[in-house]
Amino acid sequence: MQQWLNEQNQLVGFAPTMGALHEGHLELIRSAKKDGCLAVASIFVNPTQFNDPADLEKYPRMPEKDAALLSEAGCDVLFMPEVEEVYPPGEDFTIDLDFQQLDKVMEGKFRPGHFKGMATVVNRLLDIVKPDKLYMGQKDFQQLSIVRDMIRQLSLPVELVMCPTVREEDGLAMSSRNLRLSPEMRTTAPVIHQTLQWAKSALQEGMSASEIEKQALLTFTEAGLQPEYFDIVNGNTLVKVQDKSSSGFIVACTAAFAGDVRLIDNLILQS
Ligand code: PAJ
Repeated sequence: MQQWLNEQNQLVGFAPTMGALHEGHLELIRSAKKDGCLAVASIFVNPTQFNDPADLEKYPRMPEKDAALLSEAGCDVLFMPEVEEVYPPGEDFTIDLDFQQLDKVMEGKFRPGHFKGMATVVNRLLDIVKPDKLYMGQKDFQQLSIVRDMIRQLSLPVELVMCPTVREEDGLAMSSRNLRLSPEMRTTAPVIHQTLQWAKSALQEGMSASEIEKQALLTFTEAGLQPEYFDIVNGNTLVKVQDKSSSGFIVACTAAFAGDVRLIDNLILQS
């Protein structure tokens, strides 16, 4: 693949995915095309980032449908490696960097080992594809922050492009997991985005971050969701903002169960 990409003599834009594609994924490809890149997508359900083996087993796989969607979106190359290609037996590719708070808070607390596996596979895929630009979604804001820091720490020659979260009409962030929502929970789930938007205006109106977090959690619970966290953080460090210094780049990040489906979302409150 490296040889073929080299011969094309064009900028390469890369969007790594785990498949079960939706409009959110396809927007990454469209952005790469808009930037004049040759668009490469990968589909690889990475075993090292699942802390629950049952979750890995259950992950939806529909390669033919995905391939058709990708070509409609203008994708030039689909890379669908086997586990042994990404992780040849006997070699250790583990990325073990110090990400400060970035991998310890929020998702890091609730999904131990997840980000180490994610960073490892992204680094491995970057080494295979060697793209000029890497396209990732704001939907997974913490993941993107960690990848940005990995690129910085390892001085990787790639530019990270953050693509905005693609949403359903009622505001629910697109996710492969939305299909698993019960009809009742599908109706409730937009409360997540509504609450994030409320948080944005509440912060603008001067409500303290801790009060917003408290009320948001209550709103979730009253709507029938089970929140894991609703954190208002510094968008660069992911450290919770102190009430009296709410200036600069601020993001609200949240995870909540809608029935047995775990959903995450975030919103930039201040940039
Ligand atoms: P996956 O969940 O398949 O997501 C692949 C990419 O699509 C990520 O960059 C994610 O942020 C983006 N994405 C998902 N839903 C989106 C939405 N609604 N709007 C915009 N972008 C969206 O994230 C992973 O896979 C994996 O951890 C991976 C990076 C591929 C490493 O295994």
